[in-house]
Amino acid sequence: MHPQTVLTLALLPSLSTAAETVLGVYIFSRHGDRTAKSTPPTILTDLGYSEVFSSGTWFRNHYIANGSPAQIHGIAPDIVKLSQITASSPLDSVLMPSALGFLQGLYPPVGSTLAQETLRNGTVVQAPLNGYQFIPVGVVSSGTLSEDTAWLQGSGNCANAIISSNNYFISPEYKTLDQSTRGFYTSLGPVINATIPADQTSFKNAFTIFDLINVAEIHNATIPSSDLLTNDTLTQLRTLADTHEFNLAYNASDPIRAIAGATLAAEVLQALNKTVAGAGKAPVTIQFGFYAQFQAFFGLADLTQTNPDFFGIPDYASTMTFELFTNAAPSPFPKPEDINVRFFFHNGTTGNNSAPVAYPLFGRTDNSLPWNDFVTGINKFAIGNQPAWCEACGNSTGVCASPSTSSSRSTSTGSGSSSSGGVSKAVAGVIGAMVTLAVILGVEAIVMLIAGLRLVKKNRLNAAMRQGSDTLKA
Ligand SMILES: *[C@@H]1O[C@H](CO)[C@@H](O)[C@H](O)[C@H]1NC(C)=O
Ligand SMILES: *[C@@H]1O[C@H](CO)[C@@H](O)[C@H](O)[C@H]1NC(C)=O
Ligand SMILES: *[C@@H]1O[C@H](CO)[C@@H](O)[C@H](O)[C@H]1NC(C)=O
Ligand SMILES: *[C@@H]1O[C@H](CO)[C@@H](O)[C@H](O)[C@H]1NC(C)=O
Ligand SMILES: *[C@@H]1O[C@H](CO)[C@@H](O)[C@H](O)[C@H]1NC(C)=O
Ligand SMILES: *[C@@H]1O[C@H](CO)[C@@H](O)[C@H](O)[C@H]1NC(C)=O
Ligand SMILES: *[C@@H]1O[C@H](CO)[C@@H](O)[C@H](O)[C@H]1NC(C)=O
Ligand SMILES: *[C@@H]1O[C@H](CO)[C@@H](O)[C@H](O)[C@H]1NC(C)=O
Ligand SMILES: *[C@@H]1O[C@H](CO)[C@@H](O)[C@H](O)[C@H]1NC(C)=O
Repeated sequence: MHPQTVLTLALLPSLSTAAETVLGVYIFSRHGDRTAKSTPPTILTDLGYSEVFSSGTWFRNHYIANGSPAQIHGIAPDIVKLSQITASSPLDSVLMPSALGFLQGLYPPVGSTLAQETLRNGTVVQAPLNGYQFIPVGVVSSGTLSEDTAWLQGSGNCANAIISSNNYFISPEYKTLDQSTRGFYTSLGPVINATIPADQTSFKNAFTIFDLINVAEIHNATIPSSDLLTNDTLTQLRTLADTHEFNLAYNASDPIRAIAGATLAAEVLQALNKTVAGAGKAPVTIQFGFYAQFQAFFGLADLTQTNPDFFGIPDYASTMTFELFTNAAPSPFPKPEDINVRFFFHNGTTGNNSAPVAYPLFGRTDNSLPWNDFVTGINKFAIGNQPAWCEACGNSTGVCASPSTSSSRSTSTGSGSSSSGGVSKAVAGVIGAMVTLAVILGVEAIVMLIAGLRLVKKNRLNAAMRQGSDTLKA
């Protein structure tokens, strides 16, 4: 090849990215390394803290800091502007600390020069912790839109989804695998029998068993009968857990099973639309959530067709990123026609040598798609309001009670599964009460978290977690 051609080709990628401006991102992340589910209380480990901190630092160096390759248009580079960032996590002793750890990386302490102020009387006050920045983390059961928490409670609260997931346990696929893996699981008895009784050591508990051994492989120097845990065995344990969890989260012919992905999709759409419709408002959303939400979304968005790796459980600190960008001038704020969306996934901790990879959504071939096509694609499965949630879930009690009496007023405009219909007054009252409760719990949780991660009252936390234990597949 002619040397000049080589040079031109080498320049091309950087030229094309230079013309591009990022307008906003939605980041959905799994927590970092933690202790095992079967040895409660489950807590974030130091390793896990480092993982989410590393991810947060990478995202800072990619989207926030001055000189970043994809710095978001108008973003505050050092001192956080709270109007620009929305963070949320369920009230959980692993996810909430993970979110805080990630945010520490995203907006680190401002340093002693910036972290000081001069009082009226001339005294200079230095902020503690080198100017640690506070970013409130909204407490939600599974999403960022606390106004609408009721419909965001995930599959654990959705009648039809519970039925659908349970159907997996009577499916021929499940029964076949359960039978054919009896010997395999029994052979692992000596490794796990201190924690999991023999009659529970089967494919039915594929995830719990995988989780226990996976955690031990990372943390425990004295695993009993560890010679049984060959690489092949470990791979098989993981693959079986992948199959088990994916099938609980998604079934192509029974979409309600993926309700956790459908509500997540609506949250992504609504958050990004806030930026598009609001001309650059609230450009950064960060949400921490469960691996089952990833898996349900992978299924719904046809990512499994793009790459079979998406059938697997995402590793700790994995992230999905939805990036809004434009090739037009970023100011004045571009029209929706000039805005595109790109999806990235990163399996595990993001760091300098391991960046997220772009994948095409909705079975397409191109990694980026026009905003309007993204809206159309995601609206095929997004469930974004209370009436649609109640209808899809087949729920008719609680917040879903008597839709005919009070909702006619506010939801006259169609009942498409994704139209942003209103919520009836009666329902709004209930939601209001729940939001208040969530806010109270949230403030308490943040105070306790600041006071010391391990001081969180276990009873209360466990009670909160039990509420949605079916969905807490973190
Ligand atoms: C200045 O004001 C602060 C806060 O009220 C107080 O703690 C400090 O003692 C004052 N310093 C002097 C020199 O008066
Ligand atoms: C929906 O129905 C299921 C099963 O009856 C119930 O457990 C759940 O609490 C209901 N969810 C809501 C939000 O009413
Ligand atoms: C998926 O759903 C179909 C239709 O309900 C059912 O026949 C099949 O067994 C299900 N598969 C799994 C793995 O649950
Ligand atoms: C666990 O397995 C080991 C090795 O087979 C055996 O010695 C031990 O008694 C078992 N413990 C329990 C609680 O079953
Ligand atoms: C390691 O495994 C042994 C045997 O199951 C157990 O007694 C011990 O508590 C574990 N240690 C840690 C740090 O988990
Ligand atoms: C098992 O996998 C680890 C990590 O991938 C590797 O370092 C090791 O050599 C493998 N052991 C065998 C026996 O293949
Ligand atoms: C985006 O938000 C605007 C303003 O709230 C609304 O009119 C529009 O329908 C929304 N679009 C989508 C796709 O949700
Ligand atoms: C993530 O990595 C795990 C192995 O560490 C693998 O089983 C899984 O399929 C991967 N998932 C994706 C989406 O790449
Ligand atoms: C990662 O890259 C950034 C920017 O180049 C650099 O400041 C940082 O020190 C690097 N971090 C590690 C852990 O190498």
